[in-house]
Amino acid sequence: MTVPTPAPTPGDTSWFMHDRFGMFIHWGTYALAARHEWVKNREQIPDDVYRKYFEYFDPDLYDPREWARTAREAGMKYVVITSKHHEGFCLWDSQYTDYKATNTPCGKDLLRPFVEAFRAEGLRVGFYYSLIDWHHPEFPIDGIHPMRNHPDALKWNETRDVRKYAEYMRNQVRELLTGYGKISIMWFDFSYPTNEYRGMKGKGRDDWESEKLLKMVRELQPGIIVDNRLDLPSEMADIQTPEQFQPREGVKIDGKPVVWEACQTFSGSWGYYRDEYTWKSPEQLIQMLINTVSCGGNLLMNVGPTARGTFDDRALDALDVYAQWMRLHSRSIYGCTQSEFQAPRDCRFTQNGKRLYLHVFAWPFRHLHIDGLAGKVEYAQLLNDASEIRMTTPREGEANRETLTLELPVRKPDTVVPVIELFLA
Ligand code: GLC
Repeated sequence: MTVPTPAPTPGDTSWFMHDRFGMFIHWGTYALAARHEWVKNREQIPDDVYRKYFEYFDPDLYDPREWARTAREAGMKYVVITSKHHEGFCLWDSQYTDYKATNTPCGKDLLRPFVEAFRAEGLRVGFYYSLIDWHHPEFPIDGIHPMRNHPDALKWNETRDVRKYAEYMRNQVRELLTGYGKISIMWFDFSYPTNEYRGMKGKGRDDWESEKLLKMVRELQPGIIVDNRLDLPSEMADIQTPEQFQPREGVKIDGKPVVWEACQTFSGSWGYYRDEYTWKSPEQLIQMLINTVSCGGNLLMNVGPTARGTFDDRALDALDVYAQWMRLHSRSIYGCTQSEFQAPRDCRFTQNGKRLYLHVFAWPFRHLHIDGLAGKVEYAQLLNDASEIRMTTPREGEANRETLTLELPVRKPDTVVPVIELFLA
């Protein structure tokens, strides 16, 4: 089997497909509510009530250098932060709005030190920017707006002008892409053109003026990677972004492989959620990363910092799971992609040229049989300690001549998912 590679896109995805693993950060005033970043929508909270989160926003423990170090230690190579989420609040000192961090008790531009800190740790920086805005006065109310059920919603819409909002977005995105040096990813979120509610239409390319916006982005930052949520033809995007599920195979469009990035949460929410308890286990966290790379994709793993500006202990524990594992196994992730070979049961392959990585999800007793690999492997070792794994192949006349058998230690190595590195002939 040969593994088809995705066709080139307008942006530069070569570093992206090599690096494979990034950190997503969702941070805004919803961190104070601490019950999902969609809280304003879910509880249909009007502006004057929601305003308290702005008035009490004071992340006194914010230290982006600590965030950046934690991300680097977890093996993450790039970061994407919500410069503005659906609530409309801006982390930077935008000249086009008052609804920004500098006007809260915190009184600081939070984005600039962030960008500097992550760059200093060697990570590339990307900005998430919400197309949706539940604060902007020109943003027409629609089916996912917090005021969707207000009796005057339709009447208010008569004086709201989405053209003005589209211009506001271009102005802000220009600030983001001219004021912070080289930005590697622009992550727009999201379009819902067919969402119809009580006579209010959803939003898509005509509302955002997506083409104009995208053109500006590519002019300001040549090579930048842009996601696929602007409601434009897929070939105008650089990456596809499956969210909250794991693709079983490489993502394809019209039968052709494309560059993709799965985004995932440690628990069920993107923003900090105090009372949410569906935190993923160490096995799930590591297996998600392996599953993604074994299907030729990237993983963007999300942290929702608290309103004090910290990663909470549960997030730190989860990040530490990655740090421990990546310290010994990152070479089975960076530069790797889907393998040309079929992995045996309960295992996954990733491959980087002549190095084939066998990720063992369920440690078998003593023998691991790999069909089709007999005679193709020169040397094998456990990756965590570079200890030899002896191999046998059936002799002439024996059954299963194509099968390579690895002789494993009885005890599973003390790591969440052991990896065997196979050097192909
Ligand atoms: C969504 C949600 C959101 C989150 C995003 C991440 O579409 O609206 O809250 O930021 O997915 O992919």
